[in-house]
Amino acid sequence: MTFLTSEQIAFFHENGFLHLPNFWTGDQVSELRDHMQDLLTTADLTQVHSIFTTDDQTRKLNDDYFLNSGYTIRYFWEEKAWAKDGQLLVSDRRLAINKVGHALHDLDPLFQSVSYDGKVGSIVHELGLEHPLLAQSMYIFKQPHIGGSVNPHQDGTFLYTEPQSCIGLWWALDDCSLENGCLWAVPGSHRLGVHRHYRRRDPPLDGTEFVPSEQEQWDLTNAVPLETPKGSLVVLHGALVHYSADNLSDKPRHAYAIHIVEGKEGVVYPKNNWLQRPPEHPFNEIVNRV
Ligand code: FE2
Repeated sequence: MTFLTSEQIAFFHENGFLHLPNFWTGDQVSELRDHMQDLLTTADLTQVHSIFTTDDQTRKLNDDYFLNSGYTIRYFWEEKAWAKDGQLLVSDRRLAINKVGHALHDLDPLFQSVSYDGKVGSIVHELGLEHPLLAQSMYIFKQPHIGGSVNPHQDGTFLYTEPQSCIGLWWALDDCSLENGCLWAVPGSHRLGVHRHYRRRDPPLDGTEFVPSEQEQWDLTNAVPLETPKGSLVVLHGALVHYSADNLSDKPRHAYAIHIVEGKEGVVYPKNNWLQRPPEHPFNEIVNRV
């Protein structure tokens, strides 16, 4: 007995992604959205560090804010919400947030319950992970009018393991269409493997780097839009090339995403991966199954 059908498992291995509509009910989606609004309202957003300065000292502050977010609930600005002179361009700071990360799944009881759900455990187990470790979570807003595009990438670049093992789970919390910046994916591109590593630089250098530094030139000719109704789950192979466009519409495009890596012996999560957790709070395994 498996949660996924053999056809769905075969589709994932063939294409590198899988779309499961109606994974969450409308009520579940509303509960998560409302809860995030409560978090935003409670948070002191005046303490959120800006992302757009070129000033060296502030850049270091920004780097630290990001690099130390592995076991926190932190808020990151949407670049286009701010003018160059630091003026807020939207009516409400809550509409200026790009994402929240990276440990909602461990620090917030509601996001924890959906992230460690038995259906999630079954899916990643059936797709090949023996000891699935939940590495990170993000609530993504892609705000109306200003939600920025995400360049083509492989998630395994950012959640790098040797060998590659990352699987992403991405839930649509709005109806996602071409209009509001849905996901795009290149079917079969996961077979290229992950060759680029986003990592911390060796001390005494600070900050991060891509190795190799050259941007891959992806062939996007066969890319397909993944138009996903609210409540859908999209499962993404860590080597799948995917991206999304700007949201120029007046509709939000909220999503919740988690990334899972293999925890079995022999799979290495490098110490210079950008995402690190304090030793007393290692990644937790998803042990639940349906
Ligand atoms: Fe991604």
